[in-house]
Amino acid sequence: MTVCVLHAAAEMFPLLKTGGLADVVGALPPAQSQLGTNARVVLPGFPAVLAGLDDLQPVADLGGAFGAGNIRLERGVLQPHGVVVYVVRSDQFYDRPGNPYLDAGHRPYADNDRRFALLGWAAARIATGADPAWKPHIVHAHDWHAGLAPAYLRAFERGGAARVASVMTVHNLAYQGTFPASEFGALQLPGDFYAVEGVEFYGHVSFLKAGLYYADRITTVSPTYAREIQTQAQGAGLHGLLQTRTHDITGILNGVDYSIWSPSVDESIATKYTQAKISGKSKCKTALQERMGLARDDDALLFGVVSRLTEQKGLDLLLSAVPDIVQRGGQLVVLGTGDPALETGMKNAAAAHPGAVAVELGFDETLSHSIIAGSDVVMVPSRFEPCGLTQLYALAYGALPLVHRVGGLADTVVDSSLENLADELATGFVFDTFDRAGIVGAIRRAFALKARRSEWKAVVKRAMGQSFGWEDAARRYAEVYQGLLGA
Ligand code: ADP
Ligand code: GLC
Repeated sequence: MTVCVLHAAAEMFPLLKTGGLADVVGALPPAQSQLGTNARVVLPGFPAVLAGLDDLQPVADLGGAFGAGNIRLERGVLQPHGVVVYVVRSDQFYDRPGNPYLDAGHRPYADNDRRFALLGWAAARIATGADPAWKPHIVHAHDWHAGLAPAYLRAFERGGAARVASVMTVHNLAYQGTFPASEFGALQLPGDFYAVEGVEFYGHVSFLKAGLYYADRITTVSPTYAREIQTQAQGAGLHGLLQTRTHDITGILNGVDYSIWSPSVDESIATKYTQAKISGKSKCKTALQERMGLARDDDALLFGVVSRLTEQKGLDLLLSAVPDIVQRGGQLVVLGTGDPALETGMKNAAAAHPGAVAVELGFDETLSHSIIAGSDVVMVPSRFEPCGLTQLYALAYGALPLVHRVGGLADTVVDSSLENLADELATGFVFDTFDRAGIVGAIRRAFALKARRSEWKAVVKRAMGQSFGWEDAARRYAEVYQGLLGA
């Protein structure tokens, strides 16, 4: 039997992206199709989504819901892989400029509960026959935005619809989609769903908790994060529920789409290069130094950052270590956007160290590739990191990742300690304690390794030889689906 799965998510690369979620939703379905799973996606009808799809066709009129009238379901195709994408059309909810979650003042839209309830509800409608031509066996919900999908499936089942299985993937437990209890009435769920055994979370409605409670299986994006979220320290209040579901939880590492993130095919970098012929990398470094206004110096160890500027990413710790980088003759380039305080901190660091620190505030896909290609070291000093894709891209480009030993970072980077160098395992720099001494120690290891030319080169080659393709992940998800449908 061909398993049919409907992914429900808020973002999908290249249509719309604010973070790694989009990369995953863009890459996993085509990888699944390669393995014989029939994977489709449902997205909110944001303007960028509508603009990027081919062959948009009406599928069904979904009527009114959540205070929005005239909701329509359409279906289009995303090339080059031909992934079928459903879009939920509600111009009232989704036809807004800019960020999908935040208004012009960077505040969450006041009606986000209803905007994303509609996504979960539409997924459940598709699963129960809204498209006469296709029906999934499994709804696979991603993050809180789609967290109500498993709840609506249960509600529809209670109303007589056939049972459809569901999987909830946690990309980030820190974003939970919690709303005032007074909003529950607007969500069109049965009254008894507002309960501890349901969508209630400390007197609020939680979309993520709903998904974790009602989904048949839970996955998250690395094995270490799967363990971390079941602890009180890192469970963000949900560890109790997660512990009760421990046998339903699987950690599946994200992959890399090497057709997009590989220095041998990347059209957006200054010069292509390969593991065997790496000379192009230093041209990428020079181009990056020029572009960012840094001193043109091939010997300066260049540290790069491409990141959302949020508390999670630990960049306040990096800021405290900037003098250590600069005093050793290193350089730092940062691309990011987010918290105003971090944006200001970055700008101040650049102003304090002209020619050595350069910062670009904003979201720039092309520049992100140039930074990964041109840097010697890519820093991901996150407080917590469910998986992290940046360090995987860095490995592929021979930019050694410097990371905090948490979540997916711990699962994918091996520190250049003496013993790991001797055992030919090292691929980057890993620090254990989240403090200045920790990150500075890793920075010093990077400088020390750079001074040993041949060893540095060997680690770069090993990093580039790592393989985190999506095929492995797709196979693991197929096992989760099989377990579910066989049960
Ligand atoms: P997260 O999803 O928590 O942001 P990931 O490492 O999983 O972290 O994914 C981040 C993705 O977003 C990567 O593809 C990264 O290159 C991209 N990204 C983050 N910030 C920016 C930015 N300012 N400009 C361009 N791409 C960015
Ligand atoms: C989240 C996490 C990140 C992960 C990404 C994709 O945004 O913060 O660690 O790589 O989702 O799963």
